[in-house]
Amino acid sequence: MTAHDRARPPTDPLSSGAVTRPIQIVPSVLPADFARLGDEVAALEAAGVDHIQWDVMDGQFVPNLTFGPDVIRAARAHCSVPFEAHLMVHTPDVLAAEFIAAGCSRLIVHVEACPHLHRTLGNITSLGATAAVALNPATPASAVEHVLDLVDMVLVMTVNPGFGGQTYIASMERKIAEVRRMIDDRGLTDAVDLEVDGGIGPSTIAGAVAAGANVLIAGSALYKDPDGLEHAVSDLRARAEAARNR
Ligand code: DX5
Repeated sequence: MTAHDRARPPTDPLSSGAVTRPIQIVPSVLPADFARLGDEVAALEAAGVDHIQWDVMDGQFVPNLTFGPDVIRAARAHCSVPFEAHLMVHTPDVLAAEFIAAGCSRLIVHVEACPHLHRTLGNITSLGATAAVALNPATPASAVEHVLDLVDMVLVMTVNPGFGGQTYIASMERKIAEVRRMIDDRGLTDAVDLEVDGGIGPSTIAGAVAAGANVLIAGSALYKDPDGLEHAVSDLRARAEAARNR
């Protein structure tokens, strides 16, 4: 059984062909006030986000250290939207069960940290979470070619991981388009999301969506908006929908 057999309901038999996955605006908690994370995730839910991404960093795979499972567990009780953990860590196999127990329903592991990626993804699914795979900017799309049946999402990093507030790497749009073609060519359009993370904001989101992304991670763009989180989320969503319908 692949991840898709379990993770996705059958598409509407009356639909004309593959269903395009919906646009999702997903915040990175990185810019939030770490002294008030319960209030912060409640505010993100109230602002209309689809789910919340925790940027988990171990100080080894990336030069920064952030959240462990206990922090996520504490925040879990303060909102009801799904949590995903972006595991920017050297040992995802060791940590996976702890982040699922803390309340994450999706785990994103990096190709670059998984010598046995096929096994790692299968383990995550067997633990009851959905599995996703991330590609750093220099890693080719072909690295996920043989695991698309094991994931419900591919994350194309549009910055080098480790910090928020970085500049969007526009040249990644070629890779986004390449991953989009891989997903569509295998008939997985209605089963596998394509997420991008890094430098997503009002001036970059259209390019990422036009290239094929449907899940957009935003951190600093949400918290910088002078009109607040709700405006930021709805503005990014409108821009993404407009880019898709162009
Ligand atoms: C990098 C992080 C950031 C963050 C989003 O490791 O994953 O990409 O989530 O940061 P912004 O939206 O500020 O670029």
